[in-house]
Amino acid sequence: MNKLDLEKIKETIMVRGKGILAIDESNSTAGLRLASIGLENTEENRRRYRDLFLDVPEIEKYISGAILYDETIRQNSLKEIPFIKLLEDKSIVSIIKVDMGIIDMEGFPGEKITEGLLGLEDRLKEYYEMGARGAKWRAIIQIGENMPSDECISQNAEILSKYAHLCQEAGIVPLVEPEVLMDGTHTIETSEEVLGRVLKKVFDVLQEKDVYLPGLILKTSMVISGKDSNEIKTEEEIAERTVRVLNKYVPKNVGGVVFLSGGQSTKEGIANLNAIAEDTSLPWDVSFSYGRAIQGPALNIWSGNDDNLTLAKEAYLTVLKDLSKATEGEL
Ligand code: 13P
Repeated sequence: MNKLDLEKIKETIMVRGKGILAIDESNSTAGLRLASIGLENTEENRRRYRDLFLDVPEIEKYISGAILYDETIRQNSLKEIPFIKLLEDKSIVSIIKVDMGIIDMEGFPGEKITEGLLGLEDRLKEYYEMGARGAKWRAIIQIGENMPSDECISQNAEILSKYAHLCQEAGIVPLVEPEVLMDGTHTIETSEEVLGRVLKKVFDVLQEKDVYLPGLILKTSMVISGKDSNEIKTEEEIAERTVRVLNKYVPKNVGGVVFLSGGQSTKEGIANLNAIAEDTSLPWDVSFSYGRAIQGPALNIWSGNDDNLTLAKEAYLTVLKDLSKATEGEL
């Protein structure tokens, strides 16, 4: 592991005023996005969908990294330029999703484990040669009756640590993503308590395994009430609780902290990030690594009709500009 190289990559991702575009939906999840705008889930439509977000002038002013799916990293843009080259020309770091999705956890109904360690070392080597310098692995934690169990948190933490270790050995900065899902009726207090348990365990295991924290980026959910809880919380409360739990459980030398949107609307994602970034007690650079909250407005405007592309790309850039300001708490 070359610690200096990892830190340099980290610095090209965690840049003031910039964040990460998550556009790494698996083919089946991409199919859901396409279905929502009436398009069939074909390879060509997925290419049109990725192109809408990747081949846009000036995105490099607002994003420093883009998370890609395996199909996309091998694909060409509509102008027949490899997507990875398009990003490289804009000095945007290509980050590759390397987990292979979730499976049911045996003996723990409702809980999930993320797969993909098998053959990961070789896949990382190939992605490195292709030009990827970051990777992403998402573990999901569901809140519910007697959930999450300590076993689920612990197994996912072990797997995330193995993944992070393999990435660093391959010269790739790992985005470590334990997502506490918004699905459910839980209160914001429960969300804070669970995120705390998860972060504590994840960093305990990362440290046991000697993962180099300055060469790692935490991708986390915010402290938010369950989607079906009927609670309405201000961005100030969400920020206060999120900052508190991060300050308590995330070591100060972690390379950076980015947030997923996890089902928040675009407006909420912007406002909540802005409120978090306003807090001066955070020892890390913080930013966004949003998928749905970035893509939503542009996808709806596009709706698969290329006559709408200009407007869709404008809407996309407006979201990115607002997010960029939000990373500095300037909205
Ligand atoms: P969302 O912002 O849509 O939650 O996606 C981010 C992501 O990368 C989830 O793994």
